[in-house]
Amino acid sequence: DEGNQVTGYLLFSLGTAVIGSLQFGYNTGVINAPEQKLRSFFNATWVERYGQEISPGVCTIVWSVAVSIFSVGGMVGSFSVGVMANRFGRRRSMFLVNCLAVIGGLLMGFSTICSSYEMVIAGRLVIGLFCGLFTGLTPMYVGEVSPTPLRGAFGTLHQLGVVVGILIAQIFGLEALLGSDKLWPLLLSLTVAPAVLQCILLPFCPESPRFLLINLKQEEQARKALVRLRGSEDVSKDLQEMKEESAKMAMEKKVTIPELFRSAAYQQPLLIAVMLQLSQQLSGINAVFYYSTGIFESAGVKKPIYATIGAGIVNTIFTVVSLFLVEKAGRRTLHLLGLGGMAISAVLMTVSLLLKDIPAMSYMAIVAVMLFVAMFELGPGPIPWFIVAELFSQGPRPAAMAVAGCCNWTANFLVGMSFPKLEEVCGPWVFLIFTTFLLLFFIFTFLKVPETRGKTFDEIARSFGSAPPAASSPVEEAPASASTAVKASPVKEKV
Ligand code: GLC
Repeated sequence: DEGNQVTGYLLFSLGTAVIGSLQFGYNTGVINAPEQKLRSFFNATWVERYGQEISPGVCTIVWSVAVSIFSVGGMVGSFSVGVMANRFGRRRSMFLVNCLAVIGGLLMGFSTICSSYEMVIAGRLVIGLFCGLFTGLTPMYVGEVSPTPLRGAFGTLHQLGVVVGILIAQIFGLEALLGSDKLWPLLLSLTVAPAVLQCILLPFCPESPRFLLINLKQEEQARKALVRLRGSEDVSKDLQEMKEESAKMAMEKKVTIPELFRSAAYQQPLLIAVMLQLSQQLSGINAVFYYSTGIFESAGVKKPIYATIGAGIVNTIFTVVSLFLVEKAGRRTLHLLGLGGMAISAVLMTVSLLLKDIPAMSYMAIVAVMLFVAMFELGPGPIPWFIVAELFSQGPRPAAMAVAGCCNWTANFLVGMSFPKLEEVCGPWVFLIFTTFLLLFFIFTFLKVPETRGKTFDEIARSFGSAPPAASSPVEEAPASASTAVKASPVKEKV
């Protein structure tokens, strides 16, 4: 089957794009370990400038700003992804965005030399912008170059990049490696290296064939890119599919964000895309990734930092498991399984925190956290990131990625900011908040989320028409629901 071909060149291109995901993960995880070093640096700057120690309250404010301004950058960055991806294309956008990693990395790396904590904050903001852009660009590029039958498996590569990035940051952050008093600025600026690497590799990758054909109308270029990606001269099936999508693009050329909200045809997929992003973040996963060391401590675990790294390893393993399952079990099933499993794990976690005076409970806390993380990576971790690219066709895709990404980052910010306070207020009961969210999102997914496995972008878009899902019925029968059905060419047969 032509569509199933996996070539070295395809893997190379995906691998290059996924460096962006690695960067997102690295910068998510990197700030955790050197907290105390950064706090002493803030103090040292203060003493140097004002001749007195920083007050603990101000120090905590500076610290929380340095942590959370990253997500603010992420919100803005992810929101800008549509404009960039349409103007510069997918590949050139990735190339350009790497400038931000260099600027941000240098700001943080030189902060101690310049005795400026403001440079850490500015650096984190710029790095946040950079990561926000990549959480849209990578899944979009990967979704567009992958063959339909493997789009989910390759889509999961984005999340695999993220989790490997988190793990690398956790390991490099160890005191004995780069998490020391002297080396933490290097730890934070290391993000420059993958940025440079990606800039060297990107010129050898193709621009997304869908962008070439549908947006730029360069059929010959698109064909060439496809021939190299698929390793076969006969790419007519892929081309045919794109042309059908392109025919409809007359109706939905470049959809702007306001248009996305106005058009009835996009309401359903947009709701699903946003809810899936919220289910990912409001599951509480980053309460674990930002604060696990503290959680383990309060559950009585002796060496919390190793438990945290253990969570990073489980995280990586289960993302690989999901990669192999997603084309067999389907997105919907895995997402449901993951949300359900997380809800149960959160209850287990609550029990272990409540009974923490019983010595064995610290093991239960570890098991509960690992299970929580494992269930997350089965579905809620990888699926929301790539499913948005699947739910929308070429025209609205960039705008939809922008809206979905921005919701994701906003929810990420809210959980990161509020968890310490919630923990203070709710004590050991805090994870039940996430259980509640998890159950609500389970119900939503069960009722509303369709299976997208094995369907072309076109078939998925059409299934949201006002007609009953039209995957197997000729399109002419569907009432012309504005932009989806009009001008559609006859349905191609599924093989
Ligand atoms: C997802 C989330 C991210 C989280 C990570 C954990 O990529 O978007 O916020 O930190 O998974 O693996």
